[in-house]
Amino acid sequence: MKKWTETVTFFAMAILEIRDLYVSVGGTQILKGVDLALEEGKVHALMGPNGSGKSTLAFAVAGHPAYRIERGKILLSGVDITHLPPNERAKKGLFLAFQYPPEVEGVRLREFMRIACDGQGTGFCEFKDAYPQAAKRLAMEELADRELNVGFSGGEKKRSELLQAWLLKPKVALLDEPDSGVDVDAVRLIADAIRELAESGAAVLIITHYPRILEHVPPARVFVLEEGRISQEGGPELAQAIEAGGFKAVRR
Ligand SMILES: Nc1ncnc2c1ncn2[C@@H]1O[C@H](COP(=O)(O)OP(=O)(O)O)[C@@H](O)[C@H]1O
Ligand SMILES: [Mg+2]
Repeated sequence: MKKWTETVTFFAMAILEIRDLYVSVGGTQILKGVDLALEEGKVHALMGPNGSGKSTLAFAVAGHPAYRIERGKILLSGVDITHLPPNERAKKGLFLAFQYPPEVEGVRLREFMRIACDGQGTGFCEFKDAYPQAAKRLAMEELADRELNVGFSGGEKKRSELLQAWLLKPKVALLDEPDSGVDVDAVRLIADAIRELAESGAAVLIITHYPRILEHVPPARVFVLEEGRISQEGGPELAQAIEAGGFKAVRR
């Protein structure tokens, strides 16, 4: 039993708290009591086999209307956001990088980023300085005038998602498979950019079923999602055990 002072400290540090979350999609219950806490300035990893509900959790936290929250709570900086619309969550500092970033015809990358920053209260001058820096860091200078994600390679799409995170400076960044469809060199660049995002204060959650990216950006905590619940929680050694023996090796 923890003393109340320790409990208070723990909750004060968690910026995103997910409590006993039940989510259904298309009439099927996918999440069955997920508990998860993310801390400021730290990298966390959510792992789990294909179809275990990782993206469902990300969409439910972001407020996608197809993902019905049946029970439980989501708190951001102690504020209940469980039933807020997605744009309100985003304004409070929640960010989701999609596993499959959509292609948006007719909207140029830099223009899209400017509008997103504007919606968050970033001034035009501030954006004018920040955009080239972030684009350079993510090796995306050439893509500014291209239509958002249209014809982008797998790696370019993932970097375009991270570029948004860099510019919006979220409190919580949920990154759904930032490494999938990305070649080895780009994984390193993406991993470095993710680490810097956390160093600037964001609570980062890397969702992946492939431990490779975690070698470049070691997570402080690793969560394993199986059958709609967090089945395991531990340090970086948990990702290494999964790398070595698969999810079955860490099953209790
Ligand atoms: N929009 C949807 N409609 C119906 N079923 C869905 C939908 N989204 C996810 N699912 C189902 O939920 C389960 C978990 O999917 P998902 O969250 O994408 O898993 P993961 O990201 O871990 O691979 C799968 O069985 C999937 O088919
Ligand atoms: Mg997924």
